[in-house]
Amino acid sequence: MRLTVDPDPAAAIAVLRRAVELGVDHIDTAAFYVSPGGPLDVGDGPARYATELIRRALTPYPESLFLTTKVGPGILPDGSFGEARTAAQLRYQVEENLRRLGVERLDLVNLRVFRGSDSIGERFAALAAMRDEGLIRHLGLSAIRPEQLDEASAIAPVACVQNSFAVDLRRNAELLRICGERGIAFVPFFAIAGQGKESGASTTRDAAVEAVAARHGVTTHQVRLAWTLHQGEHVLAIPGTGSVPHLEANIAAGAIRFSAGDLSELGS
Ligand SMILES: NC(=O)c1ccc[n+]([C@@H]2O[C@H](COP(=O)([O-])OP(=O)(O)OC[C@H]3O[C@@H](n4cnc5c(N)ncnc54)[C@H](OP(=O)(O)O)[C@@H]3O)[C@@H](O)[C@H]2O)c1
Repeated sequence: MRLTVDPDPAAAIAVLRRAVELGVDHIDTAAFYVSPGGPLDVGDGPARYATELIRRALTPYPESLFLTTKVGPGILPDGSFGEARTAAQLRYQVEENLRRLGVERLDLVNLRVFRGSDSIGERFAALAAMRDEGLIRHLGLSAIRPEQLDEASAIAPVACVQNSFAVDLRRNAELLRICGERGIAFVPFFAIAGQGKESGASTTRDAAVEAVAARHGVTTHQVRLAWTLHQGEHVLAIPGTGSVPHLEANIAAGAIRFSAGDLSELGS
């Protein structure tokens, strides 16, 4: 999501290539991740879509690379920007992802949900039909509640749940636990941003995070990221960045090992 912030596509391409060079094998994207201004303002300029930047930077894709994308919000068949809710609208967005990423099958598609209390059965069944057709390998859910995971799981296997989660943003703790019990990957967004959410890396100071960072000789951002990885073997990291130095710091955070004392100080 952060790849389109820098107006220079070369910056995003450098981040993507360095990521794969360093062993990153999972990239999260969406066809609606586009330069500031939004998809309707930027026309079809290939440099401005994260999905197209990924294709330009990384094709031919390494076999080990796993690309996750999402549908729900995005461009609709009539050209407007909105939320896909019908099977035809979802198919349109799946096809847009296939085209922009330059693949014949999407590794994983998350259904990104907006109204927490909504039934998602019809939309998930439409995606399951596209999986049966061979357009998608695995299905996931994003920004959901536990009851929506149950509803979708009755229709087709759910491979991952992508919800917000951070040391200072824990409302999805129950879902994280449920995913662990069921062998479903939990993929937190806002691990670094936390309460800062879309506005980016949190500037709120947290004494515990700062103390642990000082003890390990790492940054507070690295502590926040490493903390999410300590929440279970099933938790994956998708830190968003448009910067090579930040990318390298985030990868290094994977090697941080907290003691029981660190974890209790961080509140887990
Ligand atoms: N499913 C959903 O609804 C949903 C919603 C939001 C996000 N997402 C996905 O989840 C990913 C992560 O979320 P996010 O990008 O919003 O938040 P994030 O990863 O928690 O934080 C990203 C912010 O932190 C900064 N940052 C990253 N690494 C840093 C480092 N090592 N040191 C200092 N600052 C650092 C980034 O700026 P720089 O670019 O300057 O590094 C950016 O401002 C997104 O990129 C997107 O793929 C999904």
